[in-house]
Amino acid sequence: MKEVRHGFPKDFLWGGAIAANQCEGAWDVNGKGMSTADIHPYLPNLNRKELDFNHLDSNTFERFKGNDEYYYPNHKGVEFYHRYKEYFALLHEMGFKCFRMSIAWTRIFPTGEEDKPNEAGLKHYHDVFQELKKYGIEPIVTMSHYEMPLHLVEKYNGWSSRALIDLFVKYCGTVLEEYKYEVKYWIVINQINLIQYECFGSLGILKDKTDNYLEAQFQGIHHQFVASAKVVELAKKINPEFKMGTMLADCIINPYTCNPKDVELALRRNRMQYFFGDVQILGEYPQFAIQYFDKNNIDIKVEEGDLELIKEHTVDFLCVSYYYSRCVDASKNGMDAADTVDNPYLKANEWGWAINPQGLYCTMSNYHDRYHVPMMIGENGFGYVDKLEEGNVVHDTYRIDYLGKHIRALQNAIEDGCDIFAYCSWAPFDIISAGTAEISKRYGYIYVDYDDYGNGSGNLYKKDSFYWYKNVIETNGECLKDIEL
Ligand code: BG6
Repeated sequence: MKEVRHGFPKDFLWGGAIAANQCEGAWDVNGKGMSTADIHPYLPNLNRKELDFNHLDSNTFERFKGNDEYYYPNHKGVEFYHRYKEYFALLHEMGFKCFRMSIAWTRIFPTGEEDKPNEAGLKHYHDVFQELKKYGIEPIVTMSHYEMPLHLVEKYNGWSSRALIDLFVKYCGTVLEEYKYEVKYWIVINQINLIQYECFGSLGILKDKTDNYLEAQFQGIHHQFVASAKVVELAKKINPEFKMGTMLADCIINPYTCNPKDVELALRRNRMQYFFGDVQILGEYPQFAIQYFDKNNIDIKVEEGDLELIKEHTVDFLCVSYYYSRCVDASKNGMDAADTVDNPYLKANEWGWAINPQGLYCTMSNYHDRYHVPMMIGENGFGYVDKLEEGNVVHDTYRIDYLGKHIRALQNAIEDGCDIFAYCSWAPFDIISAGTAEISKRYGYIYVDYDDYGNGSGNLYKKDSFYWYKNVIETNGECLKDIEL
């Protein structure tokens, strides 16, 4: 008989996660090329619930590309490229055991097409990994996090072209080889399933440059599946000890009511989210996806050997990001992954992200029951317009409440059998939002004193949640045991 479980495993990895393009800044320094993230402007009149950067056409692309009328927050970020030592010292003070970060493809291959990597880029990440090592913080590295060379959008229309496979594998092979003694955990592609929400960031496809946009997206995904399988194959040759992961943004939704129509739609929709994990973890295109493609005039071009590669080189672990949950109502919604209704039982933040800790328990349990692989939380956090008060303090009780409940729900999932080895909150210090390019949507335990135009002292201040998370780590989650969900 198995033993009853209590609390988090002893060697649990507590940490936080960031993406290079949202915090490094130094966008054109030391040979870095221009990336898709570098053309994301801050739009002062933005509607926080409708994202302008998700699906681009050529006109918007040209307008956003290097236009002096706009301010591009990512160009400065929060100066992580130059100040990473300061940030790491604070994470160490909190007791971090792991740190999920990404490598910017454009620092290594500025246009994606060079034969040789940029040495300055390679050196930079050696320095970063050495600093983490000094503190005993385990790096978990994403190779592609919403940042690809802009040149590949212009020349190939992003991942819609098969040419991207070899270019990406060349880049990944370079970093796997370069950091083989410094990094053990790798995530190949950030949130590979999020194509209908963050299509441009994920795939770099301009919609008017395709005859069938949905088909181009799934063709791009097929290319990413093949590339990822090749990367896993290569990785195991370079270092059999590497742990290779894929990542899903949790888009599992609930039926709005128990009307069988809502229930069936929710199941069909959820299956099209599981599709990505099914291919990368179970190694096969599931039948329901084939039927979906047929109904939607999606004809994916598969070359000889693709399916064998996908079958043979599945990933070792699943990384999940979880922020909120949504519902579907069959009388209003269809199969588009972004087509949802609010859950009337939940409260949401200003961006419409509804708080649902039980959803985290359910979703991790479902992934476990389906895949039986080790998992980690790669992102979970609460974006809020924090107020810096006199004495440079931020009383972010709302964040403490959100994180506490989610971590407690995670503990329940672990106790009920999920094999979860790490929890990374998003993001341990304030960074630029991927969705709206504003710093005002803050997630950090550490307040970074810049506004949406990069004005401010740049000083780092500890929020109340800083001390709270330190205690969570110190007690291995025990301090949350009395939280009721
Ligand atoms: C995830 C992304 O989808 O959500 C991150 O992987 C992103 O890059 C995070 O920052 C939160 O979204 P946002 O729009 O609040 O930055």
